[in-house]
Amino acid sequence: MKKLFIFSLASATIVLASCGTGSQPPATGADTATTNTVPVTLPDPAAFHDSVDGQPTALYILKNKQISAAITNYGARVVSLLVPDQKGTPTDVVLGYDSIGKYIHQPDTYFGAVVGRYGNRIAKGRFKLDGKQYTLATNNAPNHLHGGNKGFDAVVWTGKQLSDTSLELTYLSKDGEEGYPGNLRVTVIYTLDSDALHVGYAATTDKPTVLNLTNHSYFNLNGQGSGTINNHVLQIFADRYTPVDSTLIPTGKIDSVGGTPFDFRQATAIGARVGDTGNIQIKYGKGYDHNFVLDPAPPVAGALSPRPAAIVRGDLSGIVLSITTDQPGIQFYGGNFLNGTNPLKAGKKDDYRSAFCLETQHYPDSPNEPSFPSTVLKPGEKYATWTYFRLSTK
Ligand code: GLA
Repeated sequence: MKKLFIFSLASATIVLASCGTGSQPPATGADTATTNTVPVTLPDPAAFHDSVDGQPTALYILKNKQISAAITNYGARVVSLLVPDQKGTPTDVVLGYDSIGKYIHQPDTYFGAVVGRYGNRIAKGRFKLDGKQYTLATNNAPNHLHGGNKGFDAVVWTGKQLSDTSLELTYLSKDGEEGYPGNLRVTVIYTLDSDALHVGYAATTDKPTVLNLTNHSYFNLNGQGSGTINNHVLQIFADRYTPVDSTLIPTGKIDSVGGTPFDFRQATAIGARVGDTGNIQIKYGKGYDHNFVLDPAPPVAGALSPRPAAIVRGDLSGIVLSITTDQPGIQFYGGNFLNGTNPLKAGKKDDYRSAFCLETQHYPDSPNEPSFPSTVLKPGEKYATWTYFRLSTK
């Protein structure tokens, strides 16, 4: 698990963002980036003591020399992630709220959550497994999104702090919950490891089911609520991506990113091509909201197959996020649906395109697309996947 791939942005070509925020009018203040002026701290755990569906909610704090994290068992959400910027100033790089009530009442963004049973979309809320048809909520009409009306982001997990740097969260998703078959026992372990947050996922089922877990943290490496992410510089280790239809369901084709705004093989400012609405995929996504097919993992004898997925650099903070995973895909979402209406920590706002998500995962709609890697989990099998979020200023 400790094998890390370290890549440098130094040699890569950097294409600077020349345009603003693309095709849509940004919310006020969204097209500029600012640095934080007030000291950044973790939220008060007392503001997370409540009960949802009769289950107690809490905020857990993980700390090591480099990183502090606050994680709630409501939706297994990363609430805060504090890391030093290039001047050593603590910077909170994820969007979140400062109380449990705000998470419960502003549910649609999935801030920091573990999403499941199925991360991203399933076409028309239907899939067949072993000849049987299953029907799910079409909560993102006409499709099913992120596990349905009450996915894993909106349930209370059982939390157990394993050490100062590690938290275990477990959840039993009952047979038939949100229309999915099988009693599914899920464990997520968050661990701080030097300059990284490691997320490990494990699950078993008692009936065949489909499963695609991911973490839906929204990052702004200049600090949450500090304006546009369009000048962050992004590299994605993917030659190919899965183009979508107008409802964001993959067409089943796997296309080359070459010559398109989806080519992030060289480090490029996120906003450099997001305004290219002549590209039908950018138009459908209202910007970036697409799954990239990660390049094949280099063979590692006797180990999991870790693969570099993406590297992002905050333009003002110098904070670099590098993501490594064993998953075959990554959904790059550029915050196109944020509009400044959600009250973030420290009185900040979630303006249009003021955060990005890089969700390591299987491809959307895999249960209906036999040519995609399978997301079926059967009794007796062990689901085990992981993702490393490394944060540094190098
Ligand atoms: C995912 C989806 C987006 C959007 C966000 C949440 O990343 O792909 O379309 O639904 O979640 O707003």
